[in-house]
Amino acid sequence: MTQDPNVEAQVAPTEVGANAAEAGDRAVMTEPHDAYSDHEVITPHAVDGHVASRLDPDAPAVLEVEDLKMYFPVKSSGLVRRTIGHVQAVDGISFQVPKGGSLGLVGESGCGKSTTGRLITRLYQPTGGSMMFEGQDLAKLSNREMKPLRRDVQMIFQDPYTSLNPRHTVGAIVGAPLAVHGVVPKNKILSRVQELLEVVGLNPEHYNRYPNEFSGGQRQRIGIARALTLNPKLLVADEPVSALDVSIQAQVINLLQDLQKEFDIAFLFIAHDLAVVRHFCPEVAVMYLGKIVEIADRETLYSKPYHPYTQALLSAVPDVKQAAIGGRRERIRLEGDVPSPINPPSGCRFRTRCSLAQEICAKVEPPLLQIGPRHKVACHFAGELGQHPVAPVTAGLLGVDDHGSPTSSGPAATPLTSGPGYEKEWFDVKSRQMTSGAAG
Ligand SMILES: Nc1ncnc2c1ncn2[C@@H]1O[C@H](COP(=O)(O)OP(=O)(O)O)[C@@H](O)[C@H]1O
Ligand code: SF4
Ligand SMILES: [Mg+2]
Repeated sequence: MTQDPNVEAQVAPTEVGANAAEAGDRAVMTEPHDAYSDHEVITPHAVDGHVASRLDPDAPAVLEVEDLKMYFPVKSSGLVRRTIGHVQAVDGISFQVPKGGSLGLVGESGCGKSTTGRLITRLYQPTGGSMMFEGQDLAKLSNREMKPLRRDVQMIFQDPYTSLNPRHTVGAIVGAPLAVHGVVPKNKILSRVQELLEVVGLNPEHYNRYPNEFSGGQRQRIGIARALTLNPKLLVADEPVSALDVSIQAQVINLLQDLQKEFDIAFLFIAHDLAVVRHFCPEVAVMYLGKIVEIADRETLYSKPYHPYTQALLSAVPDVKQAAIGGRRERIRLEGDVPSPINPPSGCRFRTRCSLAQEICAKVEPPLLQIGPRHKVACHFAGELGQHPVAPVTAGLLGVDDHGSPTSSGPAATPLTSGPGYEKEWFDVKSRQMTSGAAG
């Protein structure tokens, strides 16, 4: 209906009361009631008793996003406000989230992660693309048709200080979705709220307290309880631990992991750095300026990333294991700022900051190619760090020469556009041929 950025009016019922004010940093700790306070916390992704989440390659997808786009109009100033351009916040991304699994979505600030989350929860109406959830395309449903599905797809917000209304008690905040959806008789709401507080590791007797009586970590638990109220099948967690102390981050991630197992909830877990998602997400997508540039299973992405941007992001992650085996990653510095999504660079959007960029990168957009059983990358010179090929791997497929000019032979017959999932055959960048990996 609208691409107006100020579409907060479409806010899901669970966001009622969100964003009210400046509860600020006055957090007063109530007596600690923390399910994980005994754990020695070292990093957000290594806590005793919580093994990293595993990938189930056979799990069906609960969400399939294809070619999703969100362009926010940019208006001129003055009396007659004309649309003078568009912020291409999300520009044709595809991915899937497996049932009960978790996909990480990572990238620098401004690359379109929150917009993606807000599209999936339909706080925004997409400009294009589809989002298949249990046989229905969330992109095409009216607000009325969306209402029953809002129960199934919930969101956890980044900032536990601004996402809870400071004038409402915890009971009112967590109970609001129950009241809005009328799923529990009025006289049962309190007991359900208390049950949920207990589930997230808070004292159920504290339902009458106000958000400012809780610490940041506890507030995020309240936000999580609110998101759980309606038994969602998919949770979009938008940087749920970024605002928290490192020592608290791991506790909250562990809680999410426990909840995932107990209630079989699928997660789209958004973060701005690769360290945070490593423990929780067996599969990770890396975004840059509105596009997915690489997506792979954890083992592949963290040990053999093929995209220069992923390699740079990863070089900033302290890696305990690497240090232990004497390996060391040199920090790759990204030059310059992220360009504006109003007028992104031609060809590859990363080219203005990529040390490998060549002529073809400015002329032709690299397709997101499947290059392994669960690995896709969008780079003309895709390859392991320090072993990037000299000639573009994509040229033959795209029907261009090494400089990006069209050749007479034209593009390959192989379909290049990548859907949400994985094919059984992929393009092997070393042999530059399709393979199923069966041989050898
Ligand atoms: N409501 C909006 N109106 C206009 N531009 C927006 C709006 N929301 C986000 N943007 C722009 O879209 C881009 C992506 O933003 P966002 O999704 O918030 O990124 P991230 O969550 O990765 O930091 C940014 O350039 C941002 O300024
Ligand atoms: S396509 Fe070119 S500019 Fe883009 S990441 Fe690859 S080498 Fe760098
Ligand atoms: Mg964000």
